[in-house]
Amino acid sequence: MRIVLLGGPGSGKGTQAKKLTDTLGVPQISTGDIFRAAVKEGTPMGLKAKGYMEQGELVPDDVVIGVVEERLTKPDLDKGYMLDGFPRTVGQAEALDKILAGQSKGIDHVVLVDVPDEELVKRLSGRRTCKNSECGRMYHVMFNPPKKEGICDACGSELYQRADDSEATIRERLGVYNSQTAPLIDYYDRKGLLRKVEGVGPIDEIFASIQKVLK
Ligand code: AP5
Ligand code: ZN
Repeated sequence: MRIVLLGGPGSGKGTQAKKLTDTLGVPQISTGDIFRAAVKEGTPMGLKAKGYMEQGELVPDDVVIGVVEERLTKPDLDKGYMLDGFPRTVGQAEALDKILAGQSKGIDHVVLVDVPDEELVKRLSGRRTCKNSECGRMYHVMFNPPKKEGICDACGSELYQRADDSEATIRERLGVYNSQTAPLIDYYDRKGLLRKVEGVGPIDEIFASIQKVLK
């Protein structure tokens, strides 16, 4: 099954993708995670992406599309995958359609995790993420705290606060989402692929709603 997870910054795409990976048995492909790893390693792509990410702006389409195109040729994707954070512009969505058409494949579902802006700000300002890139689980200081403060329940690594989770950058990311990414809601609705899920409420309830729309 090939799925796109769509939703504002902090809507819970990553949180839900981690749970879905276990039940569906397909990998999560997060362009945000790929870029953060590249920034950490200091690769040429990471150096290109860093400034945009710190400002809360989008990395240019040609860079992102190149990264995804390469990832989609890897051999671990036979059963499908979940795209988390891609596509984010109409240009990226059109490029994805082309890549998939070239493989005689298509998207099965686009899941929109719908959360109002004010809730997104609260979520991002309290988010903590596992430092271990193999794990990468997300927590929230109030809504989803780890059992032991500052430590990942799953792997015992330290938690950190993302550089782009400051109030000013969060506002910028929301603006970018509303102007550049939200048009994809219509784009996929017209193709009959959009499955909208209420993204406010307990994480497990949202997970159940997502599983329902994927059936
Ligand atoms: P990216 O990493 O994709 O960030 P994002 O879209 O802003 O999404 P987030 O990872 O912030 O949020 P999420 O929806 O995964 O929420 P989460 O599960 O963590 O991108 C970062 C940057 O990289 C971009 O700004 C851009 O520069 C660049 N980039 C990436 N992809 C790109 C692309 N395609 N094109 C161009 N540039 C690109 O949850 C958030 C918090 O809420 C957590 O604390 C969590 O515990 C909590 N939470 C989750 N669910 C609930 C719930 N139901 N109730 C209460 N709290 C909850
Ligand atoms: Zn962890």
